[in-house]
Amino acid sequence: TYVVTEACINCKYTDCVEVCPVDCFYEGENMLVINPNECIDCGVCEPECPAEAILPDTEDGLDEWLEINTKFSESWPNITVQKDPMPDAEDWDGKDDKKELLSE
Ligand code: SF4
Ligand code: F3S
Repeated sequence: TYVVTEACINCKYTDCVEVCPVDCFYEGENMLVINPNECIDCGVCEPECPAEAILPDTEDGLDEWLEINTKFSESWPNITVQKDPMPDAEDWDGKDDKKELLSE
């Protein structure tokens, strides 16, 4: 599966949702997640994210993000249409240590 990682937080560009063939993105207040049980591993969303927030879960150190994607995709609403990014998306793009800012 692919997962959305920390880089999405406070950016939420939502380009990703437009290309997913199985509509498996879910929206929180300041981040999206992928439902790993629905993702078919096609990889088309990865290059679409301006923040490079989407990665295959086979990369090192992503266990925590796989858990977060799994957990929140069960309760957050599905999102399939692109919307405006977060107001300060450009300022937050590329910043480290955003994880503590994740709104549940
Ligand atoms: Fe959707 Fe494919 Fe991305 Fe999985 S890898 S979230 S199926 S676009
Ligand atoms: Fe987030 Fe990138 Fe999608 S910033 S909303 S994963 S396009």
